[in-house]
Amino acid sequence: MKNLKIGLLGAGQVAFGNCRDIRQHPQAEVIAVADPSLKRAKALQNEYGISRVYESADALYADKDIDAVGISVPNAYHASTAIGALRAGKHVLLDKPFALSRREALDVVRTAKKARKLLVLGMNQRFAPSSQVVKALVERGTLGDIYHGKAYWLRRTGIPRMGTWFCRKEIAGGGVTLDIGVHALDLCLYLMDNFKADTVSAVTHSVFGPRGLGEGGWGMSDRAERIFDVEDFSSALIRMKNGATVVLEVSWALHQESAGRHNVELFGTEAGASVFPAAKVFRFGKRKGEYDVVEPQGVRGPCHGQTRFANWIDAILGKCKPCTTMAQALAVQTILDAVYTSAASGKEVRLRAG
Ligand SMILES: NC(=O)c1ccc[n+]([C@@H]2O[C@H](COP(=O)([O-])OP(=O)(O)OC[C@H]3O[C@@H](n4cnc5c(N)ncnc54)[C@H](O)[C@@H]3O)[C@@H](O)[C@H]2O)c1
Repeated sequence: MKNLKIGLLGAGQVAFGNCRDIRQHPQAEVIAVADPSLKRAKALQNEYGISRVYESADALYADKDIDAVGISVPNAYHASTAIGALRAGKHVLLDKPFALSRREALDVVRTAKKARKLLVLGMNQRFAPSSQVVKALVERGTLGDIYHGKAYWLRRTGIPRMGTWFCRKEIAGGGVTLDIGVHALDLCLYLMDNFKADTVSAVTHSVFGPRGLGEGGWGMSDRAERIFDVEDFSSALIRMKNGATVVLEVSWALHQESAGRHNVELFGTEAGASVFPAAKVFRFGKRKGEYDVVEPQGVRGPCHGQTRFANWIDAILGKCKPCTTMAQALAVQTILDAVYTSAASGKEVRLRAG
């Protein structure tokens, strides 16, 4: 079978890992990269021996040899670039977050349906080996009914490079919530297999960035004016329609003992589970007074051994289903929108049905 030919849009920091992941797939190859910064595009080309380099998205879309496009550009351009690639007849993997709003995300989904091309969101946390172990256990019913999920990603000094687009609301759409909150929330809902949210009550804070503190160093884009008008902390309580609850807490910068805390913890009627650094299950022991803390071995989830790119490529080739459905991605975007609405208004937000 002929290899799937992939073009990458965006040659920033994440594109390097993306290229590496795609190259590991035996039936796919990266044949082109496009970035308005030719310098960054050429750096990626040299690192991975990519044959074609373009300076614009349109030039990439016009390349008839390209079957599919991986998009890793600043958030404000997610919807427009995904729509452009889909209209050009390419399958799309869009790196998170989906878009700046549910409305934008819906436009992308409609375009994908019309173009009959596969659109997926690249939610890489779902493919962590330990996420897949917990997913398998949840599917087997090991946890019973999951009534609470706790998702957190708390960095002590992890603000992306100051002065880059990540810190500007106009281009990033938001701060830590859209950047890593999206991962924590998505993973938690995926593992709970529950995307039906009812209400969201949230707060955001911007404490360190405005003072120029807490920089971590992520991001390769050029530094521009030093603007920081996004949040570096957020906390949300999400009530699901079935009565379950989720607490989401994320920070780019925070005074805490360790450099980073990152996990999804699930609490069920029969057992609890924790995802990182290794999958663990907590439950009553067989004998009275005993309690088991188990690190399951050899358990394989539905996407065991895949990366987000392998899953996308295999799904295009008809070998598997996409791990992330568009309905799930829209549900996550809707909750993220509500986090910002609730934080701005100081009120709980009730989500519309559907
Ligand atoms: N694990 C993940 O899922 C993951 C990890 C990191 C970043 N991301 C996402 O990937 C995207 C890129 O992040 P990054 O860390 O590589 O950022 P970055 O700032 O390092 O790079 C962004 C690149 O996009 C280029 N660019 C800007 N506008 C463009 C356009 N219209 N067309 C083509 N290229 C354009 C810039 O010149 C730059 O080279 C972001 O949306 C980010 O949230 C996802």
